[in-house]
Amino acid sequence: MKALILSGGHGTRLRPITHSQQKQLIPVANKPILFYTIEDVIEAGVKDIGIIVGPNKEQVINAVRSVEWDANIEFIYQAAPKGLAHAILVAEGFLGDDKFVMYLGDNIVRGGIVQHARKFMDMEPESLVLLTRVDDPQRFGVAELDGEGRIVRLVEKPDVPPSDLALAGIYFFKPVIMEACKNIEPSWRDELEITDAIQWLIDNGYRVEASSVDSWWKDTGKSEDILEANRLILDDIEPKNEGLLKDSRIYGRAVIGSGSAIERSTIKGPCIIGCNCVISNSYIGPYTSINDDCTVEGTEIEDSVILAGCCISNAGRILESLIGKNVRIEKNCFKPTGTRFVVGDNSEVLL
Ligand code: G1P
Repeated sequence: MKALILSGGHGTRLRPITHSQQKQLIPVANKPILFYTIEDVIEAGVKDIGIIVGPNKEQVINAVRSVEWDANIEFIYQAAPKGLAHAILVAEGFLGDDKFVMYLGDNIVRGGIVQHARKFMDMEPESLVLLTRVDDPQRFGVAELDGEGRIVRLVEKPDVPPSDLALAGIYFFKPVIMEACKNIEPSWRDELEITDAIQWLIDNGYRVEASSVDSWWKDTGKSEDILEANRLILDDIEPKNEGLLKDSRIYGRAVIGSGSAIERSTIKGPCIIGCNCVISNSYIGPYTSINDDCTVEGTEIEDSVILAGCCISNAGRILESLIGKNVRIEKNCFKPTGTRFVVGDNSEVLL
């Protein structure tokens, strides 16, 4: 079985972070979301991975190549984000006549995909999709099941959802899906929808099975989702301290990277602090991820994701925040008093 991982698109709902950064590379617990996906498919025994790349292709290629993976990885360029079924068409040469798992590079599922892959191999349907109950089915592809639990209909982002069973962004296919993708029309959002392609399989008498996600699954489309995925991943984190502690206390499970110094501070896990950070006179609270090369001084941070290279000084108490790379936040010591901003387009500041 091969894997097709999607790492294109503009990530508009995650601006301003995605002005400079491909959304699948945003780190959760200090690791790009895309890397969890790659790890999951390798764990399921996949040796050939195709990654669909789009606007920031160099960024994705460089990030993926910076790690040694136990698989062959090739990159496939999708010139425009024309939908998930379109991505399959673009990957036709790579996929050939093989079965494959398609995994959206901004999705995270706890426990990986091994059990679902096994089910697909054992049952041998034309497709196996992952379903999970959600509170807001309007945001997703939604499945309607019959009395025996078989999928009868799939609808993309319905105004009136037929159920609360969302399609997670992980799909297993036999090669006939290529024919389905060639036989559907673009949707109202001008995309070739994967839900329509799977519906084509059902309508043409092919077997589509469902597998339910029995733990959590997250589509990290918005900043709240990134914070929630960060909490969920940190809930499972194992403590490890490779940094230097001076006059500081650690409570709970914390990971502190090499080259980092914690001085006169309190760290309360679950949390992660990357490499080469300096945390002084501060409090780092639960569900916080601070990436490499950050300096935090005289500040309390809780339930937040801070990307690499930030400098935060005497900034009061920061919570439920997603802060991009190389951001400087500091107390204004100059007159006149007031709050000074240099924030990018589509930023959000809550005072
Ligand atoms: C896509 C699919 C949708 C699925 C979702 C999961 O939505 O079209 O069916 O439920 O991924 O993340 P999109 O991210 O394109 O809005």
